[in-house]
Amino acid sequence: MIGSVPAGAPRVGITGIGAKAPDRIVTNHEIAERVETNDAWVIERTGIRERRVAAEGEALSDYAIPAAQVALEQAGVTAEEIDLIIVATLTPDMVFPCTAALVGNALGAKDAAAYDLSAGCTGFVYGIAQAYGMMASGLSRRSLVIGGDLLSKILNWDDRGTCVLFGDGVGAVVLDHVETGGFRGFELGADGGGGMDLFMPGGGSRQPATHESVDRGDHLIHMNGREVFKFATRILVSSAERTLAQCGVTIDDIDVYIPHQANMRIIEYAVQKLKIPEEKVVINVDRYGNTSGGSIPLALADAHAEGRLRDGALVLMTGMGTGLTWGSSIIEWNGTGVGR
Ligand code: UT7
Repeated sequence: MIGSVPAGAPRVGITGIGAKAPDRIVTNHEIAERVETNDAWVIERTGIRERRVAAEGEALSDYAIPAAQVALEQAGVTAEEIDLIIVATLTPDMVFPCTAALVGNALGAKDAAAYDLSAGCTGFVYGIAQAYGMMASGLSRRSLVIGGDLLSKILNWDDRGTCVLFGDGVGAVVLDHVETGGFRGFELGADGGGGMDLFMPGGGSRQPATHESVDRGDHLIHMNGREVFKFATRILVSSAERTLAQCGVTIDDIDVYIPHQANMRIIEYAVQKLKIPEEKVVINVDRYGNTSGGSIPLALADAHAEGRLRDGALVLMTGMGTGLTWGSSIIEWNGTGVGR
């Protein structure tokens, strides 16, 4: 699906951003003590130098709640003023109840609608698109969208093809009606034909957890890295191009580009194909690895902290991930609220 915000439509923007990642840093050297890999290989093939890893016993909401609190504070609103909470994640605290309801309860977002959204690394872009739609239609007044994962909890730490890639982290944004700027458009899609290229086979209704399924590691991430790589390079470019065309802007109009932080080589390919200057690209994959649902909001929070999101800046974000799914959004940064 694709759409741009028509002239005269209600303007919705991001008015607060928060992020939270575990303190514990795990370097490539530390992983190399466990599996046959080395720092040079991981840096050359992925650009990743280190990632954050949550402690035993910690769950997604332990990071989502503080990230959301910062976002609310920046937006200058209380949790009670939020009527919609979406948590985009593959690693909720538990299968049910949804983590969004747990977060809403902890924040004091009384009676807010709350649900989790499963679109992998694209989840945050799906989440802001849904929240935008509900706000533009008048159904929601103000929403909180959280994207994040603790993928360390479902990683096979003996599989060098995946354990070097992923990390933990969460980002949160408040969406509110704004007078200037705001979202310009979205493009979202999925191709279930590639679903088995990145999946967790166990724990669902197809293969409920059993002793045998756990022994096989069915509750862990399985990935066909080469296929996902091919998909990622193709879709980051095509989704961005479709979204730019739909919104009536060119790549030269974009001030800040936030691609999914999966692999430096994938980002470099997209940057080269899209012909966007490197100084406009936000990169933190070297420090966080791929945090899935947290990837884009963490990068957005970094860009904000670095003062790169000036008033009127056009920001392009593109995510891709399990499903296989993808999604892009263009937002004109309005600055009101953020950092107040
Ligand atoms: O949000 C989306 C999430 N997923 C992704 O973004 C994954 C996308 N895919 C990738 O990033 C890359 O495919 C990888 C980084 C996973 C792998 O890089 P590659 O350049 O595609 O390597 P490859 O799979 O073609 O493997 C090349 C060699 C293999 O050895 P042989 O068969 O040639 O002897 C692998 O076994 O590299 C080996 N290898 C490693 N060697 C050292 C794979 N992982 C590692 C490792 N350390 N960690």
